[in-house]
Amino acid sequence: MALPKTRTAVQAAPQPGFGLYVHWPFCQSKCPYCDFNSHVRSEIDEARWRRGLLAELDHFAGRTGPRRLTSLFFGGGTPSLMDPGTVGAVIDRAAERWGFTPDAEITLEANPGSADAGRFAGYRAAGVGRLSLGIQALNDSDLRFLGRRHSAAEAVAAIALAARLFPRHSFDLIYARPGQRVESWKAELDQALGMAGDHLSLYQLTIEAETPFGAAFRRGELQPMAEEEAARLYELTQEMMERAGLPAYEISNHARPGGESRHNLTYWRYGDYAGIGPGAHGRLTIGGAKLAFRQHRAPEAWLAQVERQGRATRTQAPIAAEERFAEMAMMGLRLTEGLWRSRIEEETGAPLEHWVDKAALDRLVAGGFLALDAERVAATPAGRQRLDAVLAALLT
Ligand SMILES: C[S@@+](CC[C@H](N)C(=O)[O-])C[C@H]1O[C@@H](n2cnc3c(N)ncnc32)[C@H](O)[C@@H]1O
Ligand code: SF4
Repeated sequence: MALPKTRTAVQAAPQPGFGLYVHWPFCQSKCPYCDFNSHVRSEIDEARWRRGLLAELDHFAGRTGPRRLTSLFFGGGTPSLMDPGTVGAVIDRAAERWGFTPDAEITLEANPGSADAGRFAGYRAAGVGRLSLGIQALNDSDLRFLGRRHSAAEAVAAIALAARLFPRHSFDLIYARPGQRVESWKAELDQALGMAGDHLSLYQLTIEAETPFGAAFRRGELQPMAEEEAARLYELTQEMMERAGLPAYEISNHARPGGESRHNLTYWRYGDYAGIGPGAHGRLTIGGAKLAFRQHRAPEAWLAQVERQGRATRTQAPIAAEERFAEMAMMGLRLTEGLWRSRIEEETGAPLEHWVDKAALDRLVAGGFLALDAERVAATPAGRQRLDAVLAALLT
């Protein structure tokens, strides 16, 4: 199978960019499917948190030296619980310490509750240009099942407000819910497409072990959708999104041309990014070595350490070339565009064939799971649906 054409005639690898990720680890309640680093706290001293985030930002800006940010992403948790003043302070400090490229993307993840929506205009004024809403479902009974605090009507209102206030917006839906029917998902996705901006994230429900859904599954009280049924919904989703002009550029992410999340593309293209806040990860090239950073995960431990030392880095380690290749493959094969050979050489110092078993590569190509050409290696749609197995075969 041929590789999908890129948009330029000259097949040069796109620049991966340089991003900043900011983690806000608090939520109003914990959704039963979610195993993100998010916590419910009755009181948050936001002034202390603001100082902590700014201190860690200063620390990483000192480590990287002068570079320009192509993106900044506020993720969580629920960053739409942040005071717009805190969001603005982080944006301003990032502008001061690193600076932004002219087309830099600044995204904030938001929940659609009315209190959160009341802060949207403040985020826009603070410099956020892209809002990413966690909608999850567009009917009240599934929202209840997913433990969401908002109604479908609030979700629709929040999307309309985001469309009015922000140059770009996206929203997330979770599908392949237990018992979900093909026809009802089709109708829900049609409704979503009617409200879509330049981007939609469509995730299949994953039952994570360490969550209430995981426990319900072990007790036999929650039956996940059968694999073949979920695969049918996945294929329907791909077809509908393609027809609507928002094809998948990553397994679960769909965009109009140019509407891709530049921040997430930096991860998937294995670019550099700094991560601040509890549990944030970073990948930074410093002095010729690529370093992996992970910050303390527990909010209180993070804050205490930042206040003592100006940063709360739990681990920092150089990434060996072989591991760099493995990370690049895990990230890049999620993308429709795949992995660029020139980037593999740039990051690891050796070509693709040096890192993979030739026989395994040939088998995956012959089986229709990978496609290769002079510039790139990419997973086919069938390969992307079984990416874990493809990676296991490739990276042994
Ligand atoms: C960091 S989370 C949430 C953003 C925001 N707090 C919210 O919930 O609206 C990012 C997205 O991951 C998705 N997600 C989280 N857990 C999931 C799971 N177990 N299965 C599928 N999707 C999941 C949801 O769509 C969610 O919006
Ligand atoms: S899905 Fe979002 S709101 Fe729900 S617990 Fe996870 S991060 Fe918090």
